[in-house]
Amino acid sequence: MRSIGFFVLALIQFNLVSADAEHFYASPAYETGDLGGWPQQLYKSSPVIGPVLNYMQKSEQCYSHGGYTMITPRGNSVPMPGPMIVDDRGNLVWTKNYGRAYDLKVQQYRGEDYLTFWIGKEIDGYGNGSHYMLDSSYREAYMINGSNGQAADFHEFRITNDDTAIFTVYRVVQADLSSLGGPNKGYLLDCGFQEIDVEAQSLLFEWWASDHFTIDEAYQSLQGSGTNEEMAWDWFHINSVDKHPSGNYLVSSRFLKCLAYINATAGDIIWKLGGKHNMFTDLSDGGATNISWQHDARFQDNGAAITLFDNAARGINSSAAAPDDNISRGLYLDVDVEELVAKVRHSYWSSQGIISISQGSIQVLENENRVITSSLKEIKCMLAGMAQPKSRPGSWKVQKI
Ligand SMILES: *[C@@H]1O[C@H](CO)[C@@H](O)[C@H](O)[C@H]1NC(C)=O
Ligand SMILES: *[C@@H]1O[C@H](CO)[C@@H](O)[C@H](O)[C@H]1NC(C)=O
Ligand SMILES: *[C@@H]1O[C@H](CO)[C@@H](O)[C@H](O)[C@H]1NC(C)=O
Ligand SMILES: *[C@@H]1O[C@H](CO)[C@@H](O)[C@H](O)[C@H]1NC(C)=O
Ligand SMILES: *[C@@H]1O[C@H](CO)[C@@H](O)[C@H](O)[C@H]1NC(C)=O
Ligand SMILES: *[C@@H]1O[C@H](CO)[C@@H](O)[C@H](O)[C@H]1NC(C)=O
Repeated sequence: MRSIGFFVLALIQFNLVSADAEHFYASPAYETGDLGGWPQQLYKSSPVIGPVLNYMQKSEQCYSHGGYTMITPRGNSVPMPGPMIVDDRGNLVWTKNYGRAYDLKVQQYRGEDYLTFWIGKEIDGYGNGSHYMLDSSYREAYMINGSNGQAADFHEFRITNDDTAIFTVYRVVQADLSSLGGPNKGYLLDCGFQEIDVEAQSLLFEWWASDHFTIDEAYQSLQGSGTNEEMAWDWFHINSVDKHPSGNYLVSSRFLKCLAYINATAGDIIWKLGGKHNMFTDLSDGGATNISWQHDARFQDNGAAITLFDNAARGINSSAAAPDDNISRGLYLDVDVEELVAKVRHSYWSSQGIISISQGSIQVLENENRVITSSLKEIKCMLAGMAQPKSRPGSWKVQKI
């Protein structure tokens, strides 16, 4: 069991940090924020601060699997943010005060496990920072920055089967926005990804959305942006990249409501699933291609399927719930990428009808369970009928190992 290495070292490092606080089960007070913005616990043996969790449902199926959960709480109520590992009972196994982290997960590089996460400067909806790779002794083995003068963004960091790293990048470019009612000398917040050689930190491949898509494919309107560099129009919003065994890439665009398969030779588009120019026949009466504002698109089953988190909701100006917001779901799609046919294998709906206006993920575990995360943000409180959010857990990206 590969998590044992992490656990043993955590014991040495923190002299057995063992939680005393009871976790909660389906506590409404926890959910409304009456127990504080981020219920937490302190330890006698260590200055670190750990979470107190609220389990909505007890399930021996989850316990019997064991394993650790990776979380990155980073809301305003978290006094000492950083990557955190908790065990199957919610007890803290490891954390370090790195500041607000994103995207903590375990990935394999050259046959070894690494903890990877992003730390850096959060800009409006994207980031300029570094991806960390910690070895099984929690040592910083690699730090990865953008190449070509570009900044490494927080949305994606993927170590491929070829032992290369892929991450997303954002940049401002000039563009003619007059066809959409904007200025002809306007500004786009363009985005794409880089693939690099981890050892040499040299660039292997770079791709930009504006080279291959047109701006009229965006569902996100200008809303007054695009007039200057500081307010560049976020039109595409790449939020995940995966690499197919053939070497081609799967890209998710939040604001085009589509997934695209990108040819690794020259970056051209092989197919699009969803969005204004969907190319797939939908065998589920539209349910396989009506994805919107989605995140975390991954190939499964050797390329015969795709999983994603279908936010299905965007909110008002992406910051609060909108009246027609739809309920989010985890989605498992069977795809025939030769015949361009898609079918819903399974939709995973939350029993609480969660509406996630941004972020979220779906992970397929080895035991065939799924871990699905979503970010509630202000929505949680709006549903509880409150004018001002009391509880701001921030965003959680969870990975289970
Ligand atoms: C990456 O960027 C950070 C922040 O600018 C810098 O401190 C660090 O030295 C850089 N790391 C590498 C490996 O270039
Ligand atoms: C990212 O941040 C670093 C350090 O703050 C800065 O030097 C660099 O110019 C920024 N990169 C981009 C592309 O904005
Ligand atoms: C990718 O592009 C190359 C070069 O144009 C082409 O030979 C190949 O067939 C393309 N791959 C796919 C899957 O379309
Ligand atoms: C997409 O289609 C599925 C299946 O018909 C449906 O349950 C879901 O509500 C639809 N999503 C949206 C946003 O309309
Ligand atoms: C949403 O944006 C529009 C245009 O910028 C603005 O008029 C409106 O007040 C905003 N609504 C909310 C709820 O922030
Ligand atoms: C919810 O789904 C309906 C039907 O698909 C769609 O018309 C509406 O725009 C969706 N709402 C949002 C906020 O995406």
